[in-house]
Amino acid sequence: MKAYLVQKYKRQIEAVEIADPPVGDHDVRVKIDAAGVNLLDVKIRDGVFKPLLPYKTPFALGHDLAGVVTEVGSAVTRFKVGDEVYGRVRDHRIGTFAQSIAAHEDDLATKPTSLSMLEAGAAPLVALTAWQALVELADVQPGDKVLIHAGSGGVGTYAIQLAKHLGATVATTTGTSNVEWVGDLGADLVIDYRRQDFEALLSDYDIVVDSQSGDTLAKSLRVLKPGGLAIGIAGPPDREFARRQSLARPLHLLMSVLSFKIRRAARRQGVRYSFLFMRASGAHLEEITKLIDAGVLRPIVERTYPFADVALALDHVEGGRAKGKVVIEMN
Ligand SMILES: NC(=O)c1ccc[n+]([C@@H]2O[C@H](COP(=O)([O-])OP(=O)(O)OC[C@H]3O[C@@H](n4cnc5c(N)ncnc54)[C@H](OP(=O)(O)O)[C@@H]3O)[C@@H](O)[C@H]2O)c1
Repeated sequence: MKAYLVQKYKRQIEAVEIADPPVGDHDVRVKIDAAGVNLLDVKIRDGVFKPLLPYKTPFALGHDLAGVVTEVGSAVTRFKVGDEVYGRVRDHRIGTFAQSIAAHEDDLATKPTSLSMLEAGAAPLVALTAWQALVELADVQPGDKVLIHAGSGGVGTYAIQLAKHLGATVATTTGTSNVEWVGDLGADLVIDYRRQDFEALLSDYDIVVDSQSGDTLAKSLRVLKPGGLAIGIAGPPDREFARRQSLARPLHLLMSVLSFKIRRAARRQGVRYSFLFMRASGAHLEEITKLIDAGVLRPIVERTYPFADVALALDHVEGGRAKGKVVIEMN
């Protein structure tokens, strides 16, 4: 089968012929129809995540998939041959920019019947990030005030819709050309970050989901009410994250140092800061499937690339201007 491999960090990936990966007892083989492209793929290709995820070259790239089960391991209980599934495969088992993959059944969920393969393949990583930030970490309650940065991005489009579904009042930031359609996702207040200062407009927020880090994260702390929570998904990572990931001890210290400034600012402000690194979860994705099929969450796909153009798709995402998702169509 064909798969896109990182042959050397920081180099463009190449499609090569490789052997079909073996299917373990708890794995299913999936013929991949579509694969969403994420900034995580770009960052892994460029070695940014090497201390956390030390993939040894050559390795196959890609986290998201939608496709059809073609083989099941002896201990698989949730899927059978012919099932349509989607998922974000777990770290250390990545490689969805490929014609097929052997994935742990726990990483997959039933594909929403209301979505095409393309829409489903674009959803898992970003929808799971929104879920794990708003449901698992923040436990958003009706009436909470939630600020979501980059409402036009992959994560933002899902986070706005999910936060509204949870009963929150939602503010979001985006650039001028996106203000109108992002408002249609249900945000109560859309702030044009190119023309307006969100810090001057917002106060007493319960939760911020920050995908920008730097100044935006620092300012975000100041729109929170006392005890409020800023969730950083673009960093900096903190010690708690190192603990959850069971990273080596020296990395705990490094994460502590990296997040020292923002944690100190949060403490002085009387608010909390937590770094989130999303993880594969078929169970969370099954919940997301229900919301998609109920019409609560709808995917936004900006552009589809053919399998031959995975490198161009990565360039598109790396540009940072994506509106919703970019997805690879395999066939
Ligand atoms: N920790 C995790 O588990 C996790 C999971 C998913 C993503 N992430 C990270 O989170 C970040 C966002 O991911 P994504 O996939 O949502 O990104 P994305 O889809 O590439 O985001 C692109 C969007 O961001 C908007 N944007 C850019 N700068 C902005 C700013 N200063 N304020 C508000 N909006 C801005 C752009 O709008 P304009 O074109 O109008 O500027 C564009 O629509 C990335 O750094 C990614 O690596 C982390």
